[in-house]
Amino acid sequence: MGTCLLAGCGYAGTRLARRLIGPRPVLALVRSAASVAALAREGIPAVSADLDGASAFPVPPDLAAVVYLAPPAGPDGEDRRFERFLAALGEARPQVLVYVSTTGVYGDTGGAAVDEAAPTAPADERARQRLQAEGQARRWCEARGARCVLLRVAAIYGPGRLPLDRLRHGEPVLRAEDSAPGNRIHVDDLVAACLAALVRPVAGVVNVADGCPESMAAFTARVAALAGLPAPREISWAEAQDALSPGLLAFLRESRRVFNARLVGDLGVTPRSPEVGLRDSLREMGLTVAGGPA
Ligand SMILES: NC(=O)c1ccc[n+]([C@@H]2O[C@H](COP(=O)([O-])OP(=O)(O)OC[C@H]3O[C@@H](n4cnc5c(N)ncnc54)[C@H](OP(=O)(O)O)[C@@H]3O)[C@@H](O)[C@H]2O)c1
Repeated sequence: MGTCLLAGCGYAGTRLARRLIGPRPVLALVRSAASVAALAREGIPAVSADLDGASAFPVPPDLAAVVYLAPPAGPDGEDRRFERFLAALGEARPQVLVYVSTTGVYGDTGGAAVDEAAPTAPADERARQRLQAEGQARRWCEARGARCVLLRVAAIYGPGRLPLDRLRHGEPVLRAEDSAPGNRIHVDDLVAACLAALVRPVAGVVNVADGCPESMAAFTARVAALAGLPAPREISWAEAQDALSPGLLAFLRESRRVFNARLVGDLGVTPRSPEVGLRDSLREMGLTVAGGPA
């Protein structure tokens, strides 16, 4: 089996690399020397290159698959990361490219359901950059006869990515009646989706969400209950304008329910519910789960 290049190997990418390595050769591409060193300590071969600059990276001669997990540049910079990455691949002809995108490309649907055929209407610069990169991925794959899988991913949570500090500091949450449904995925279910996308004959857009949309108030209260922490104070939308960060407010402004039928049917991944995912996360962090095993 040829090498799988993981471009952007941070939180999710590292967990993916751990699952891939062994059965197949893996090369991780990250920005910083510190990340190369951290991956090397786990036995994951890695190289560094800043996709915002001109730095090159060695393309494995037996490149067979690419999973692209680096974020776009966002509103602060011109986003040519993915374009530069594709250019750096030169004449390489992997069989499959998996591009990790976001459900943010659907924009705000006022709570309506979105499947993969739903129109896209990105509401912020980062989501617009994602949509543009999806188009670049499709065209690049078409030109090379590669299979192209575009994973539109909901908010990722898991061990080390839970609002525990916010709860410990007594930070409030937007009250349930003002909250839109939020869509999430446990990091290992995203990893399972990437693994399946690499080997199953699936192409095009696949939503990666757990199919259990719940408000931030409900999700955070669930975290608090399972972690044995006090439930967060709930505040109104007007109070939230001063109390919550601009990023969080932007996330809360968008409302949609993400359907995951292709994830389950075509990729064969049945994501865990928030209850199970949170219990798994807390256990992996070595924390006591209130209410015992389930
Ligand atoms: N977090 C969410 O809720 C969410 C939701 C939907 C989609 N996503 C997307 O899912 C993907 C995986 O998320 P994650 O949380 O695992 O990401 P992450 O932990 O932030 O990792 C990002 C990786 O990309 C690398 N990177 C960033 N900028 C780069 C550049 N200019 N050149 C080269 N490498 C660069 C980083 O390298 P260094 O470590 O060296 O900086 C890191 O390895 C990301 O694209 C993210 O935007 C996330």
